[in-house]
Amino acid sequence: MVLSFGALVSIRWYRRLTISTSKLNNEYVETIVECEDCGKAVDASALPARCSICGGLFTIDAGLADRISADQLIEDGSLLSTTSGVWRYQAMLPRLPADAIVSRGEGRTPIYRDERLAAFGGVAQLGLKHEGQNPTGSFKDRGMTVGVSHAKSVGATVVACASTGNTSASLASYAAAGGLKALVLIPEGKISGGKLAQTIAHGALIVQVEGDFDVALSMLRSLTDELPIYLVNSVNPYRIEGQKTIVIEMMEQLGWLAPDVIALPGGNLGNTAAFGKALIELYQTGLIDTVPKLLTVQAEGAAPFADYFDSGFDRYEPIVAETVATAIKIGDPASIGRARKAIQFTNGIVARVSDREILDAKAHIDRCGIGCEPASAATLAGVRKLAGAGMIGPDESVVGVLTGHLLKDTEAVLTYHLGAGIDESGPLANRPISIPSSMDVLRNTVLDALSG
Ligand code: F0G
Repeated sequence: MVLSFGALVSIRWYRRLTISTSKLNNEYVETIVECEDCGKAVDASALPARCSICGGLFTIDAGLADRISADQLIEDGSLLSTTSGVWRYQAMLPRLPADAIVSRGEGRTPIYRDERLAAFGGVAQLGLKHEGQNPTGSFKDRGMTVGVSHAKSVGATVVACASTGNTSASLASYAAAGGLKALVLIPEGKISGGKLAQTIAHGALIVQVEGDFDVALSMLRSLTDELPIYLVNSVNPYRIEGQKTIVIEMMEQLGWLAPDVIALPGGNLGNTAAFGKALIELYQTGLIDTVPKLLTVQAEGAAPFADYFDSGFDRYEPIVAETVATAIKIGDPASIGRARKAIQFTNGIVARVSDREILDAKAHIDRCGIGCEPASAATLAGVRKLAGAGMIGPDESVVGVLTGHLLKDTEAVLTYHLGAGIDESGPLANRPISIPSSMDVLRNTVLDALSG
């Protein structure tokens, strides 16, 4: 029997109601880890990378009660929940022992509003939630605090990921903070210098694989099947739980009034899956009354999910990815199935934008004083494209997520602004001027430039 996603959600929800006791007043029900596809439950302390029956990914039933009010959700006044914008929402997260929690005060990121960027995006109301303002400069820290804490709680000593750079930087940091060893597989020569530097500096064991991210992840999944190494890529359901808090926090910032559209970049699609899960839970607990459309934006040369969406989710084909936005240079996203469910549940859209569109959107975000890395700018480029095509109405409210900090990829900034020659630079290119040490030349240069 094939069940629709809606039916599956209802069945899970019914089960959740029948098995759950109240989680209020800090009384949590046991966390249930089960295969998202066939429902097989597993012991969370021996979390396999995939289901032994059907190969599906695992998901977590945090045992939410039928309704949580916003007050009850954030009532915990412990130090951890006041410093961490993830653990603040622990009523919607799996229960973990307090002494296993590794937190660096992640989350609590701002939503920026700038009329120039709304005009560029072609919408009246645009907020940009900046996840680059997390401790290691990307949204990955939200999932990592939960993933690494779970690893610690089950006695893991080595935690590992394959990465296009941000997950590795985050894992290296959280593992070091929690006293665990980190193993990182990266595609050789294909991640930015800043992300590599972070990962090196925090002491991870780094293995550079000849090949792309998809090869590195598939090799690591096989290795973690063989060796007692805890996998923290976003196939890990605890990572997804932490990343849900981007949306939960966004809704709290918006007074629990959902926007019409939430836009984000898509690579391995863990974040799209996490956003979908957060929206299902927020809606089903009654914390929000409407479900925003998810808009996942991919780079044109790395758009297998957009292809899949365009086929009406009929044909999925992995590709060999190529894009300037190295963070999302992924051709066979691990969370493709659950990201599809997120798009279907929210009646969402998957779009693709060119590298040129990404870099121009980034230059606008940077020029407004906000700044982000290239993959993050796919968000705004996608909004602009869909608003231009009439698929987002001018009156619809949009919140986009900027996933990484500008300093994550300085090579991209310098290439855009300095280029090999001015003609190859972007339209907002800002080239430093070199002069000899002469006051006359300095004065004339400054007057000239300021009058231009
Ligand atoms: N934006 C940034 C800055 C990222 O680093 C990533 C993913 C994404 C967007 C896409 O998120 O994979 O959940 O769809 N980076 C991973 C990494 C793959 O290894 O750092 P996704």
